[in-house]
Amino acid sequence: MTASAGGPTGNGLSPAELAASPQRHRELALGALLRADNLVAGYLPGVNILQGCDFFLRNGEIVGIIGPNGAGKSTLLKAMFGLIPVRDGRVTLRDTDITSAKAHTLVTRGVGYVPQNNNVFPSLTIEENMQMGAYLRPRLFTARFDAVCSLFPLLAERRKTKAAALSGGERQMVAMGRALMMEPAVLLLDEPSAGLSPMFADEVFVRCKKINAAGVSIVMVEQNVRRCLQVCDRGYVLDQGRNAYTDTGSALMNDPKIIDLYLGTLAGSSRHR
Ligand SMILES: Nc1ncnc2c1ncn2[C@@H]1O[C@H](COP(=O)(O)OP(=O)(O)OP(=O)(O)O)[C@@H](O)[C@H]1O
Ligand SMILES: [Mg+2]
Repeated sequence: MTASAGGPTGNGLSPAELAASPQRHRELALGALLRADNLVAGYLPGVNILQGCDFFLRNGEIVGIIGPNGAGKSTLLKAMFGLIPVRDGRVTLRDTDITSAKAHTLVTRGVGYVPQNNNVFPSLTIEENMQMGAYLRPRLFTARFDAVCSLFPLLAERRKTKAAALSGGERQMVAMGRALMMEPAVLLLDEPSAGLSPMFADEVFVRCKKINAAGVSIVMVEQNVRRCLQVCDRGYVLDQGRNAYTDTGSALMNDPKIIDLYLGTLAGSSRHR
C-alpha cells in the first residue's frame, strides 16, 4: 500500500510523489480490476495530451483523479473508455487487454462511463433515458430499472418527465442511473458534482458511496477536491498529462504539497460552471 503523508524523503520527494513513479505503479497495480500503463493519447496529430499516465483501480475501490484544468483528467477517462485512440501504453480490465476497445464493447464487459458534459438526452423522458442505458440488453430493463430506482427513487417518481425539465442535480442522477442500467463493475465518472449547488454536490458524493457499497468500483474525476478525497480510498493528481502524486485520499488531503498546490486554490475557489 502507499505510504501515508509525511515529510520529504532523503531525495526530497514526498511519499505521494514516490508512489507516482512507474516502478511503484507496476508493483502496486498487480491484480487490479482496471489499469492503465504508460498511456499516451491525444486529439491532434503529433500532440500528446497524456504523456505516459499510469492508473489502477482495485475491485471495490473508489479512486479519485484530481488536478488543474487541462491536466488531462477527462482525456484519461476517455482513453480508458475507448473514446480516443491510445498511441502508446496499455489498458487492462481483469487481465484482459482492452486498449482501444470500442466503448460499446466495454459497456458489455462491465464498464460504465458518465461524461463531463451533455450526459443526458434532454428531449427524452427519464424512463426513455434509462431504456437507452439498457439498449444492449432490453430484456433486463424492468429488473435493472427497479434496482437503479432503489438508489435514485426520484427516477421512478418522475419517470415520465423529460430530462430537459430537470435541475442539474436531477440530471446528474439520470446520467448516473443510465450508466448503472448495464450493471457495471466499474463506473467512470467525469466531474459528477460540477455545476451543482453545495447541497446537491454533497448528495452526489453520498450516492457514489452507496453505489460503491452496492458493489460497483468507481473512478471519479473531480474539481471538488476536498470532498472527493474524503470519499475516495485513493487519489491521483495529474499535471500536464503525467502522474504527479498518488496516495490514499486521507494522506493526499494532509500532504502539505497537495494542500499548497491544489487544495488551497481548487477547493478554496470551488469552481462552479
Ligand atoms: N476534443 C479535443 N480536441 C483537441 N484538444 C482537446 C480536446 N479535448 C481536450 N483537449 C485538450 O486536451 C487537454 C486536456 O484536456 P482535458 O479535458 O483532459 O483536461 P481536464 O484535466 O479534464 O480539465 P478540466 O478540469 O478543465 O475538465 C487540454 O489542453 C485541452 O485543450
Ligand atoms: Mg475534464
